[in-house]
Amino acid sequence: MKKLAIFVSGSGTNMENIIKTVHAGKIPVEAALVVCDKPDAPAITKAQRLGVEVALVDRKKYTSKTDFEAEIIRRVEAKKIDLIALAGFMRVLSPEFVNHFKGRVINIHPSLLPAFPGAHGIRDAFEAKVKETGVTVHYVIAEVDAGPVILQRKVAILPEDTLATLEAKIHAVEYQLYPEALRVVSSINPPLM
Ligand code: GAR
Repeated sequence: MKKLAIFVSGSGTNMENIIKTVHAGKIPVEAALVVCDKPDAPAITKAQRLGVEVALVDRKKYTSKTDFEAEIIRRVEAKKIDLIALAGFMRVLSPEFVNHFKGRVINIHPSLLPAFPGAHGIRDAFEAKVKETGVTVHYVIAEVDAGPVILQRKVAILPEDTLATLEAKIHAVEYQLYPEALRVVSSINPPLM
């Protein structure tokens, strides 16, 4: 069975949902490691409660991005990880890191990429007053919020939606789509990319 690492920076609700889905036997991977770059991230206790090892690699403790990423690579390789799922990991990975794990890193983004990349995909779509947005799961390449799309799902923005209701709708779709994408990717050997 492939070993999965999930990278997080914040609340970790996608991570929690993925781990619970894995533990329910609905994604054929082992949830082997959570990597977190922020010591105060609520994701850490969520992962620990679910019994998954957490590698806290605090960016502030490293003078360079190269050293920070080298430590992440060391922790990931020590666990013989096959697949990395970014789930609200709010750091841009270097081209060197991406090439190191080429075709084995995927990301979820809360918009219909290439529309509304960046750290505020939901809010940006809401403020742009578009009629639909959505969720994208894609392979990670050196360019931020880009790379071959694995799955994408639309979410309508209705006149009565507020930013809060839109966020709730997007997250509900994320909790369906990321496990679906992981089922697809974990069954491909070698990865498509
Ligand atoms: C998710 O909505 C994810 O799509 C987004 O961060 C949130 C993390 O929430 N990612 C990005 O915006 C990446 N550019 P979570 O920590 O509760 O899963």
